[in-house]
Amino acid sequence: MPSSKIAGIGMYVPKNVVTNHDLTKYMETSDEWIQERTGIKERRYAHRTEETTTTMAVEAARIAIERAGTTVEEIDFIVFATLSPDYYFPGCGVLLQRAMKMGEVGALDIRNQCSGFVYALSVADQFIKTGMYKNVLVVGSEKHSFGLDFSTRGRNVSVIFGDGAGAVVLQPTEKKGQGILSTHLHSDGESAEILAMYNPGTHANYWADKNYADFDDAEIGQMFMSHNMIDKAQNFPNMDGPSVFKKAVVKFPEVIMEALQQNGLQPSDINMLIPHQANLRISQFVQQKLGLSDEQVYNNIQSYGNTTAASVPIALCEAWEKGLIRDGDLVCLAAFGSGFTWASALLKW
Ligand code: ACO
Repeated sequence: MPSSKIAGIGMYVPKNVVTNHDLTKYMETSDEWIQERTGIKERRYAHRTEETTTTMAVEAARIAIERAGTTVEEIDFIVFATLSPDYYFPGCGVLLQRAMKMGEVGALDIRNQCSGFVYALSVADQFIKTGMYKNVLVVGSEKHSFGLDFSTRGRNVSVIFGDGAGAVVLQPTEKKGQGILSTHLHSDGESAEILAMYNPGTHANYWADKNYADFDDAEIGQMFMSHNMIDKAQNFPNMDGPSVFKKAVVKFPEVIMEALQQNGLQPSDINMLIPHQANLRISQFVQQKLGLSDEQVYNNIQSYGNTTAASVPIALCEAWEKGLIRDGDLVCLAAFGSGFTWASALLKW
């Protein structure tokens, strides 16, 4: 049975840099507050009309495909992770297939928020291992800037998120011990509402003031996306930040240790940990808990903010482009996010 390896990687971030100071035009916040709590200095925002989650993914995918030494025609499956899709449905996978003029290949969207890319990688890995596909394009892309609450009410989330995309091409390898060694996926829906965007959704309690049963069908239709709902900020991400923090600092180290233990390894064996760029404080906590040095962990949240499903492939790509990941290195990817979901992947580069 072959294993799968990352044969090519690419990233794309929009040109438009938005500093913490820029955000003070919209809400009561400060550079000091944001940097102290999140480490973020600036993020990128996509062009309002010309860039979408899909167009950014296309840019990253083109680079990944070229670096993999393959062509668009050879891609035989797409796995697309995002929580900010162009449309509620259909998903971005088919929009990417169309935009890149691919053949009628399968396209799958993954809705696992910040863990989305690691989940997507794991799904792609299974298809390669079984021999079903030979060139799987795995993408994480987000355009958050379009859907954030820029009023003071939503500032705990809106200062954190940024836009961008990352992509990899997975191919089979027969080399023993190379490529993806293992992936580990988890969820706990008990805290689903702690970090969630309720609309567009069909859960009655989140989009009506009164009991759902009090409305007839026509009224319900009119309520959908009504001002009432928008006023309640249900079409924006809502987050209980401290609760996310508490769970993340437990689950991140746990899922990294699970990957290491399954492969008979320990933290000192890791050449590079790429944590989901949720918050610099979370990454630093994880680093300290595992006893890792600064050289063993890559963070770039300072420049891009939290790009949720795109953060792991963007950070991985940037670390590789800087020469911080070399052939034979042990690389660990780890993520935690809304759901809650969390995941890790261990790979030999
Ligand atoms: N600027 C200024 N003040 C703010 C801002 C802001 N952007 N956001 C919130 N505040 C205020 C609040 O209104 C509150 O004011 P009050 O005390 O007068 O009521 C005060 O700051 C503290 O609010 P908290 O929500 O308790 O803020 P906290 O100190 O916990 O920091 C943060 C918020 C940074 C989100 C923190 O909870 C955290 O780090 N959480 C981890 C979650 C995370 O990183 N999520 C990222 C996305 S999810 C993911 O990727 C896994």
